[in-house]
Amino acid sequence: MFNNQHISEEFSNTESIVVYQGDCLRLLSTIPDESLQLIVTSPPYNIGKEYEKRLKLEKYIEQQAAVIGECVRSLSPRGSICWQVGNYVDNGSIIPLDTVLYPIFTKLGLKMRNRIIWHFEHGLHCSRRFSGRYETIIWFTKSDNYVFNLDPVRVPQKYPGKKYFKGPNAGKHSCNPLGKNPGDLWVIPNVKSNHVEKTDHPCQFPVELIERLVLSMTNEGDWVFDPFLGTGTSIIAAIRHNRRGIGAEVVPRYVRLAKERIEQQIAGTLKTRPMNRPVYDPILAGNSLTVAPWTKKENSEQLF
Ligand SMILES: C[S@@+](CC[C@H](N)C(=O)[O-])C[C@H]1O[C@@H](n2cnc3c(N)ncnc32)[C@H](O)[C@@H]1O
Repeated sequence: MFNNQHISEEFSNTESIVVYQGDCLRLLSTIPDESLQLIVTSPPYNIGKEYEKRLKLEKYIEQQAAVIGECVRSLSPRGSICWQVGNYVDNGSIIPLDTVLYPIFTKLGLKMRNRIIWHFEHGLHCSRRFSGRYETIIWFTKSDNYVFNLDPVRVPQKYPGKKYFKGPNAGKHSCNPLGKNPGDLWVIPNVKSNHVEKTDHPCQFPVELIERLVLSMTNEGDWVFDPFLGTGTSIIAAIRHNRRGIGAEVVPRYVRLAKERIEQQIAGTLKTRPMNRPVYDPILAGNSLTVAPWTKKENSEQLF
């Protein structure tokens, strides 16, 4: 669809890929009203990662509100915003960021369509609470007439060949042959050390997570915008499917990484974990390290 793709540094409707080095509010100020179809991002969580200055929660919310307000202005009337967040941790006490950000969106007139739970199995091991193994994607639309394409993101049925056994439809498939709705609990590995997509950035999106949002909430040629671009994953997911991608990133090192990865995507050499690949199961894979010592104990049905 887009020939001779190249990376531009400023927004223009004649471009298809834009990576802006600098503050997202500055980039947003150059984007016309109602021109973006999908805005998807994972903002800083204010937990002291290397790219963020830890702020008082009120100040953080104020900053997020300014970005969200500009995003809503530039969102198309049929468009969607997906804000992916985890917890803010204050002296061991957690504050789920989606709960504090939710009122900002609804006060701007947006409607929530899903609160998607993204479950992954790797992360820090906590000793004073259960280890965090999910984050959320809060999905809002600007109107009731929003783009939602379910067919490209259907997943295999649990019982794919199941048929009606009586009644007027007897013998016909009882489920959609294209697959089922993926639901609002998504089990997708996060990008940790052994992940094929891992770079030096501490918290990258897996490409497959964003591909599902792009395919269901946009059409070919639409703009996908990520105000906190990091390593460029949202643009990569967009251009893989003939959408246009734009994003801002303040840290020059991450801008370089994003550009490298986008160039690799254009050249067809970027390694990614494919959408819908089942999660690695160590037992099915025959990994002997998963055999617990007590399973070898003979004649023992209970641990003492
Ligand atoms: C959670 S990371 C996003 C990672 C990204 N989803 C990816 O797949 O690589 C947030 C990013 O926002 C960047 N950032 C922080 N404040 C920013 C701002 N005001 N404008 C643009 N980028 C910003 C940080 O440097 C960081 O790379």
